[in-house]
Amino acid sequence: MRSICRPLLAALLSCAPLLPAAQGNDVPPTDGAALLKWLQAGSYRQWPKESAPHRSLGPHPTQVIAYLNPPLDRSLAAKAAAHPKGSAAVKELLDGGGKLSGWAVSVKTSADSDGGKGWYWYEILGTQAGSRVVAQANGVPLCFGCHTPGRDFVLIEHPLK
Ligand code: HEC
Repeated sequence: MRSICRPLLAALLSCAPLLPAAQGNDVPPTDGAALLKWLQAGSYRQWPKESAPHRSLGPHPTQVIAYLNPPLDRSLAAKAAAHPKGSAAVKELLDGGGKLSGWAVSVKTSADSDGGKGWYWYEILGTQAGSRVVAQANGVPLCFGCHTPGRDFVLIEHPLK
């Protein structure tokens, strides 16, 4: 027994550092101030995203481009009826000249969407502290009301265009 276990254990231990670390940056913080800093840092730009900005079908100003974190992207690809806790989307809001002018964010904070209350909603019209914050809470009716027809409150077409 020992002769089998020893090498197995050694192999497991040596592999551990190669396993992907818990991807902390993949779930945005759900505190307004921390989230703004996280957005400014821009790590979400490595997520799966739309290939180009397009006009929003919703009320989000002019051009938008959506980014989905890997758990949400996988869940949409699997056509899951409900997305896992930690699913998140970031939508960049661009002004007429294509310049970044704000963000809309949704983060699933519990396994149960609870009619929209299981999602944290955030929108800021501007990119700096002091810009107008439209929403920053779980269950904001303005946001989830319009997102209700989506797939577990997510509206963007998938596969991403
Ligand atoms: C009048 C309808 C409407 C309202 C209100 C609305 N949205 Fe959206 N939202 C959309 C549509 C439509 C999309 C799909 C992309 C597009 O066309 O803009 C979208 C996409 C998004 C996305 C990208 C992920 C997804 O679900 O597709 C986020 C994040 C988002 N909205 C956040 C918010 C937040 C936060 C609020 C509240 C401040 C909000 N939305 C209010 C219609 C709406």
